[in-house]
Amino acid sequence: MRLTNLLPALALATTTSAWGFYGHKTVALLASRYLLPETSVFVQTYLYRGQTIMDAAVWADRYAHIPLGRYSKTWHYIDAQDDPPSVCEIKYNRDCAVSGSGCIVSALVNMTARIQDDALPWAQRAQALRFILHFLGDIHQPLHTEHKQLGGNRIKVLFHGQEANLHSVWDSRIIEAARGKPTERGIIGLTNELQDRIESGEYKDEKDDWKSCLNTTTAEECALVWAGGANKYICSYVLKDEVDGQELGGDYADGAVPIIEKSIAMAGYRLAGWLNMLVAGRDGLDEAENGGYYGWEVVDGRKEGVDEEDREINREIEENERKRAGGRKFEGVQVQH
Ligand SMILES: *[C@@H]1O[C@H](CO)[C@@H](O)[C@H](O)[C@H]1NC(C)=O
Ligand SMILES: *[C@@H]1O[C@H](CO)[C@@H](O)[C@H](O)[C@H]1NC(C)=O
Repeated sequence: MRLTNLLPALALATTTSAWGFYGHKTVALLASRYLLPETSVFVQTYLYRGQTIMDAAVWADRYAHIPLGRYSKTWHYIDAQDDPPSVCEIKYNRDCAVSGSGCIVSALVNMTARIQDDALPWAQRAQALRFILHFLGDIHQPLHTEHKQLGGNRIKVLFHGQEANLHSVWDSRIIEAARGKPTERGIIGLTNELQDRIESGEYKDEKDDWKSCLNTTTAEECALVWAGGANKYICSYVLKDEVDGQELGGDYADGAVPIIEKSIAMAGYRLAGWLNMLVAGRDGLDEAENGGYYGWEVVDGRKEGVDEEDREINREIEENERKRAGGRKFEGVQVQH
């Protein structure tokens, strides 16, 4: 039942991308398994026809790389100025201000307000939804919560003999080495596994903790709880031992896979709870599980015709990606931090 057809347009990404396509698309697909029916309708209303919830979840990275969207780049992370591996902690006032133009916590607060603002035009609320779909993913990537060496972008490592930086290893290299390229089949497979672990497997007993903060009226507090959890992994694993110049493709990657998979599961579960809270005023997670709304599989949009501002944005995105791909078909966003 769960393996019904996915939509035609699930792009097959074949290069690295931020909390890559694997992470973000799995987060979105997993979330769609836990949406209340009214939440699904809401999401459909704020997506374009043919745009799946998974496509929408990767939009923010593509947007951050065009001139029009550059202002949103700092919204993808919070730069904890802590001292790993001995001290890991996020202090909102100290850390969010580092970049000067907002961080993932303030962006989530902002977008959570904007998506509920009836006075905003459709396109602005739709954009707020796309940001939320993306940021719930990024805030669970440990290196999106760390200042050191630009979130690991400046830490050079080896991955199966190839030069890489630590950030990209966590965004996509480890998960792709473990699971293959983020194909449609791969993303459905991982989503199914994570859902099973949530409902009857190793995450079953801890998932109540995952939903301890899902009140959208306290968005800042909740975003800080999530970011704080991801940041803890910096000390307990990511930078626990010296990684500079090390080969991370072996034991290090083996130990990272369970952390990454659990982070993706938490992100998807919380994303669903967050959207349900926004639309229905309750997280709906138990109902969805017990009621089995799996028929909703892949949520895609209803909106016909492209809004003018989005047409301009899409044009820039396509041009940018064509340039980056050097004339080849676009294969993924090369986004760091
Ligand atoms: C919220 O987002 C809007 C739209 O992107 C932006 O114009 C505004 O400055 C943001 N406000 C805050 C407080 O970050
Ligand atoms: C969310 O928090 C507000 C303010 O603390 C509270 O009034 C409200 O009842 C909470 N909502 C839910 C669904 O728990």
